[in-house]
Amino acid sequence: MANLDLNDFSTNMTEGERQYSDKKLRIGVIGMGGIAGSHLDSYKKQPDVEIVAACDLIEGKSEKSLEKHGITGVKCFTDYKQMIDTVAMDAVSVCTYNRTHAECTIYALEHGLHVLLEKPMTVTLEEAVAIRKAEKKSGKIVSVGFQPRFDANMQMIKKIVQSGELGKIFYVQTGGGRRHGIPVSWSETFIEDDKAGLGALGDIGCYSIDMVMNALGNPKPLRVTGVATDYFGKTPEAYAEVGKPECAEKFSVDDFASAYIRLEGDIVLDFRISWYMHLDTTGDTIIMGTKGSLRIPSTECWNGTFNKPMTIYRDVAGRPVQTEIPLIHSPETPTLFDKKIRSFLDAIIEGKAAPVPTDQIIYNQAILDGISRSSKSGHEVEIEIPEI
Ligand SMILES: NC(=O)c1ccc[n+]([C@@H]2O[C@H](COP(=O)([O-])OP(=O)(O)OC[C@H]3O[C@@H](n4cnc5c(N)ncnc54)[C@H](O)[C@@H]3O)[C@@H](O)[C@H]2O)c1
Repeated sequence: MANLDLNDFSTNMTEGERQYSDKKLRIGVIGMGGIAGSHLDSYKKQPDVEIVAACDLIEGKSEKSLEKHGITGVKCFTDYKQMIDTVAMDAVSVCTYNRTHAECTIYALEHGLHVLLEKPMTVTLEEAVAIRKAEKKSGKIVSVGFQPRFDANMQMIKKIVQSGELGKIFYVQTGGGRRHGIPVSWSETFIEDDKAGLGALGDIGCYSIDMVMNALGNPKPLRVTGVATDYFGKTPEAYAEVGKPECAEKFSVDDFASAYIRLEGDIVLDFRISWYMHLDTTGDTIIMGTKGSLRIPSTECWNGTFNKPMTIYRDVAGRPVQTEIPLIHSPETPTLFDKKIRSFLDAIIEGKAAPVPTDQIIYNQAILDGISRSSKSGHEVEIEIPEI
């Protein structure tokens, strides 16, 4: 099997082998809400990192979060441009809501900073293209925050597909969902179009798409027909368990999406994702090939985990057989989040490509963008990704 890029080039190193930077890397964080806390926790564990600046539109939010995480000596701002203009840094984590991912990332790149950008890459394909252009011009890296890529079981999916064991892949079904799971408990920015831009599609749909696109080697998406709906989010009942019925008034994104996507190499991707449904699961992920097929049990793949083993189905001497792939149990630390942070830092130190690069994730964004466009237009749409 060819040497696979499994996003783990340095995370498998032992402590003795690891190269830390001689000089501390100076890091800033833009957007100090829920996920920024996970960035802070992981950066804190790295001996060659100093968190030097933080920024949030909401006055006092950065200070409060830093105090909660026991981090001192950080300059705080409410304007990311001012932060970037005045503090010397090597890199920033962009942890803002989706609508501001592009502007913050592009400004950071234009000012010589590497960027660890939270998923989804952006809201529109146009914004993702603008980031790719700025990244290329800057010579800096942008790594997109898909931490499940660092999970050993997730990597096994790619190893199986790339081994050729399944033959030519022609059909993939993926997606997932939560029975009652519109995310409003810690922040309501996920349900507002002017902040999130995409609902279930951008929150969890992008993970399912990345799981299979990464395994397939990122074939180019060509055409898509998709539907995105909002039957549940606009009803107060959808928030009964969290006691926030007023969220129904704010809800302006999708809570369900499904799509049929044609990929390069005669592969079709059948996809569905849901934040709220009267159903236990939207089904397993299946990857069908001419020599065998892989079943990945319905998984909350956004956590980077699945609890039941995968199964390969194929024929041996004309008889159908099934092979269970035992689950790989990884130590609790480093966490997937730690690996995402460390691999980004290692790429900076070693002058390597981004561990989760934008030239791959732009296809993910093109699919999300295509589904939104198709849903609005009511018919199949072409996906055109400009050369960058
Ligand atoms: N990788 C993961 O596991 C994971 C998990 C949750 C969220 N996310 C992603 O992280 C991002 C943020 O999610 P969250 O849960 O932290 O949301 P959040 O609403 O809790 O926090 C976002 C923060 O960004 C701030 N912000 C927005 N635009 C800004 C700007 N221009 N300058 C400064 N601050 C700005 C907001 O004021 C808010 O405090 C989203 O894109 C989301 O998809 C990733």
